[in-house]
Amino acid sequence: MQDSRNKIFSTEKPIQSGVIFQMNKNSGLTEVNYEIRILDESYLPQIMELQHLIIENLLRKDTLQPFSADFMKDHLGIKGFVLGVLSGNDLLAFRNVYFPDINDAEWNLGIDLEFPTRILNKVANLQMVCVHPSYRGNSIASIMNKHAIRIIKDMGIHDHVCATVSPYNFWNIKILLDSGFIIKKLAKKYGGKLRYIVHQDLHSPMNFESGCSQPVVLTDFIKQHEMLSNGWYGTDLNVSRKDAGRPCYENMFLTFSRQTESLNAG
Ligand SMILES: CC(C)(COP(=O)(O)OP(=O)(O)OC[C@H]1O[C@@H](n2cnc3c(N)ncnc32)[C@H](O)[C@@H]1OP(=O)(O)O)[C@@H](O)C(=O)NCCC(=O)NCCS
Repeated sequence: MQDSRNKIFSTEKPIQSGVIFQMNKNSGLTEVNYEIRILDESYLPQIMELQHLIIENLLRKDTLQPFSADFMKDHLGIKGFVLGVLSGNDLLAFRNVYFPDINDAEWNLGIDLEFPTRILNKVANLQMVCVHPSYRGNSIASIMNKHAIRIIKDMGIHDHVCATVSPYNFWNIKILLDSGFIIKKLAKKYGGKLRYIVHQDLHSPMNFESGCSQPVVLTDFIKQHEMLSNGWYGTDLNVSRKDAGRPCYENMFLTFSRQTESLNAG
């Protein structure tokens, strides 16, 4: 067991390598070689530095829940793992995964989703994801999500992956939905911050293909809460390029879907 864990969490070999684009000050693009690796504790200072830079540049400060160095360090070992995108020694992006305790009301999102107690030890979280502003637009977050979910599957311990995302963080909502998550709940977390709780069952993904769907304005939280309480799930987000530049949340629509009765019965 320890051997297979060490193999999965090996920090020695890159998980993926290639070329991405760096946006220069004059908006030009430069090609940069990168590697994705599982990071060890020696990267903690760089992770904290990148988190700090990202927070400084946030459009809305309430869209990211900052982690202390101690909590971040917990992710770099037995309670989780952190994927990093590196160019030489420079950390361009990271995505961390956390394995919460069964009684951790803040971080075990299975508790928020009212999972039976017996499966709370099967819940893993995708926690923070940060991409340096100069490297955005390379789909790095999606690529890291894909690897994180595959690694969680390979470990063979967790059946459910959850995450939280602010309704105002439309970039990350889109990325999470495209990574196989569905929105299951709208709740106040982290001392009163509004968050969607998203979930994916690693073994039985939900299928909405023959169900019905309805768009709701991204900021109509009363309507969304009502729909989520009545068997609907958030499954897609429509944002036009025009609105992404200078966010106008009222022009963004979240698609809610529900399975048909026959699918539910099957
Ligand atoms: C969410 C995040 C990780 C996505 O980064 P990413 O993987 O580079 O995003 P994508 O490559 O999918 O970007 C798609 C498009 O959205 C744009 N975009 C993504 N995030 C953006 C942001 N925060 N501000 C402005 N534009 C952004 C990209 O430039 C790209 O535009 P293009 O299609 O014109 O090239 C990144 O926005 C980020 O680090 N945000 C701050 C931290 C955060 O909020 N994390 C989530 C909560 S923990």
